[in-house]
Amino acid sequence: MIMQNKNIIIGMTGGIAAYKTAELVRGLCNLKAKVRVIMTKNSEEFITPLTMQTLSGEPVYTELFKTHFRKNLEHIALSRFADAVVVAPASANFIAKLTHGLADDLLSAVCLATTAPIAVVPAMNKEMWQAAITQENIAALKKRNIFVFGPASGEQACGEVGFGRMIEPQEILKLIPKMFESQLFYGKKIVITAGPTRENIDPVRYISNYSSSKMGYALAEAALEAGAYVVLISGPTNLDCSTKIKHINIHTAEEMHKAVMQEISACDVFISAAAVSDYRPANSSSQKTKKGTERISIELKRNPDILSAVTSLKRKIFVVGFAAETKNLVANAKEKLINKKLNMIIANKVGSGLGLGFDSDDNEVVILHKNGKSVKFPKMRKNKLARELIKTIRSAMLS
Ligand SMILES: Cc1cc2nc3c(=O)[nH]c(=O)nc-3n(C[C@H](O)[C@H](O)[C@H](O)COP(=O)(O)O)c2cc1C
Repeated sequence: MIMQNKNIIIGMTGGIAAYKTAELVRGLCNLKAKVRVIMTKNSEEFITPLTMQTLSGEPVYTELFKTHFRKNLEHIALSRFADAVVVAPASANFIAKLTHGLADDLLSAVCLATTAPIAVVPAMNKEMWQAAITQENIAALKKRNIFVFGPASGEQACGEVGFGRMIEPQEILKLIPKMFESQLFYGKKIVITAGPTRENIDPVRYISNYSSSKMGYALAEAALEAGAYVVLISGPTNLDCSTKIKHINIHTAEEMHKAVMQEISACDVFISAAAVSDYRPANSSSQKTKKGTERISIELKRNPDILSAVTSLKRKIFVVGFAAETKNLVANAKEKLINKKLNMIIANKVGSGLGLGFDSDDNEVVILHKNGKSVKFPKMRKNKLARELIKTIRSAMLS
């Protein structure tokens, strides 16, 4: 689950183990990750880009210099696309280049330009691995928090036996999720609400909204990666979440209110990403309403205010709200931050044609802090944004 929709760049360099990377790419695709492969010129001596293209279902990138059809330069676009970069096999030559910040081909340029975590999976002859310079380079990479997976010991392509073999694709697949984990929220409980609520008019009709739940689900996964115990209270959606998340399904705002109040004990952070209906029909009919007169009206009454219920609890919890607005974004969000006594509010514009907010994979937000500080986050994918928000929440809690 943790790999679903993650954007992974697989870098391949010139080593015999390149054939094993085919299985790695296939494994990642089976886990529903989005994989793009970058090959060095020398890796093409060992396996063809066509094989990797067929397995990843994406064009394979090999050139730093080529005609650009897009405004974005390829190495910058790829470095922004990546949630993680895994170089497998990583040759001794590539490890040396990465250590010293060289950027003379597409793969090394992407590694230099990305802010995503990088892993190298060394594969080389045992003497190359044991060479003092390789060991110094590996130590320097580890110091820079670059992951080093392996190598393993065993028979090598050259016929010798020793350390330097690339670890098996199945082992790499188990290690990649570790690149996303942090201990930022270790031992903390985070309760997150997500999605729309449905307020019944009668047994077959309801009032709801366009919330897709994507932001709340992305936050739940990011909180899990940060080591938290996560409870996700969700309105109707067809999204899945990791089995490590406690998932509670609700339909109405009243059910969401009840579930939040049951889960709020021992909670450290409450994030309200759900689009909760402010009103519900005052009298929900137990039978389907029949077609009759030209006009009918539905009387609405206020739903419980979940955010205010949490902020008025005696035990202080770090409370984060969302403000989805069609106009006066910052002013409206500020008012909500103050009125509801929140620690932080995440303001995002919604409305048709924006390609942002409700039902979109992207979001562009402004974070307003209780102390008056505000930070704008540019348009990015919701799962990337979720990781940034989780980091921001942690630093705000510690400041
Ligand atoms: C048949 C053959 C196999 C090789 N296998 C490896 C290897 O497993 N690991 C390694 O570090 N270099 C290996 N090399 C050497 C690299 O291909 C060479 O250092 C090359 O410059 C790496 O280029 P790249 O890092 O840009 O892909 C091999 C070379 C040949 C001819």
